Amino acid sequence: MAKVTGLEGVVAAETDIGLVDGERGHLIYRGYWAKDVAVHFSFEEAAHLLWYGELPDEGELFRLKERLQAYRELPASLPPLLDAMPKSLPTMSVLQAAVASLTEPDGTPAAWPPAPSQAERLTALLPAIIAYRYRRSKGLDPVQPHPELDHAANYLYMLTGTIPEPAHAKALTAYLILGMEHGMNASTFSARVTSSTQSDMYAAVSAAIGTMKGPLHGGAPSEVIAMLEDIGTVERAEGWLRAVLEQGGRLMGFGHRIYKTKDPRAEALRTVTEKLTGDTDSFKLALHVEQTAIRLLEEYKPGRRLYTNVEFFAAAIMSAIQLPAELFTPTFTAARTVGWTAHVLEQAGVNRIFRPQSVYTGPMPTLGD
Ligand code: CMC
Repeated sequence: MAKVTGLEGVVAAETDIGLVDGERGHLIYRGYWAKDVAVHFSFEEAAHLLWYGELPDEGELFRLKERLQAYRELPASLPPLLDAMPKSLPTMSVLQAAVASLTEPDGTPAAWPPAPSQAERLTALLPAIIAYRYRRSKGLDPVQPHPELDHAANYLYMLTGTIPEPAHAKALTAYLILGMEHGMNASTFSARVTSSTQSDMYAAVSAAIGTMKGPLHGGAPSEVIAMLEDIGTVERAEGWLRAVLEQGGRLMGFGHRIYKTKDPRAEALRTVTEKLTGDTDSFKLALHVEQTAIRLLEEYKPGRRLYTNVEFFAAAIMSAIQLPAELFTPTFTAARTVGWTAHVLEQAGVNRIFRPQSVYTGPMPTLGD
């Protein structure tokens, strides 16, 4: 029997939320091209589309913005909890614990079924938790949310204490939208599995955060920046990349389980990055590394169809807007929270507990019946 690994090709759920077509390089959010949503709509509009199935009208958008703004306030239980966690704990572990600790705003424990208000609250809270923890870990005072800023701009404001340049907020918005949803990826599957046991929304998102933390999933972007910094110049790129591949290593930001052609998110983010930093040496280096890596991957791994994935230009964008590398994966997490929560809400409507089987390959008893 063929080795059973990684659930490749297995259909785990039906979904109306997003389509990932890896052969054609298509990503669709509820009937819209994700790359178009990312440049033509706001974060709040895209989140509304994923949660509620349609773009909001003016009134719905206004009210959603109001609710998200109100939810940015950290509940009183969180600052002491966040301060008590060791400074050395990675932000992803802090986020996982913080989300697992949440109760309803009135202090009652959360319960199944999940509610849209929990999806909105988590989406608003995640950036606020990241910013609080980041500033405290650097010995800085936390910054209160800004009532007039939208989601992405407020995140940057709460991190830095300064109103961000509109171009930075726009680039971050495009990245956050393209990071929101991606079919049955490992962390979304985790969220749905946890929710399928009738566990609550916060438990489901906390499980998803633990899954997102791994370098094969959400942990790649900071490694992309480390790679680009280590390569340093165009001249060093080929030798550096070859050395990794000669040793059987992986190039971060390349390859994907589903996309066997260009990842449409990488394509869209390359354009956004170019608009932001087109004439800088760092963008030219990133482009050169991308082209060289694709050529070398075809040489060392012929036929595997390895191309740039979303993480490569995500890293370039986050670096261009001066987000510290330690916040790349948490920021991806803040984006994907929209998709996770949309899937948890959808799962509740069709729920049956996930319970696959395994093939036993261990020894059988030799004594008795
Ligand atoms: N560099 C070098 N070789 C690679 C890479 C890479 N980035 N990706 C895949 N391969 C090779 C792999 O060694 C294997 O070769 P062989 O056939 O000789 O054993 C072949 O390609 C197939 O790889 P796989 O591990 O079976 O593929 P997978 O579908 O299990 O893995 C992946 C997908 C994303 C984990 C993998 O491509 C990878 O490790 N990429 C680097 C990490 C990365 O950039 N992760 C972010 C993914 S995008 C965010 C998201 O959507 O979650």
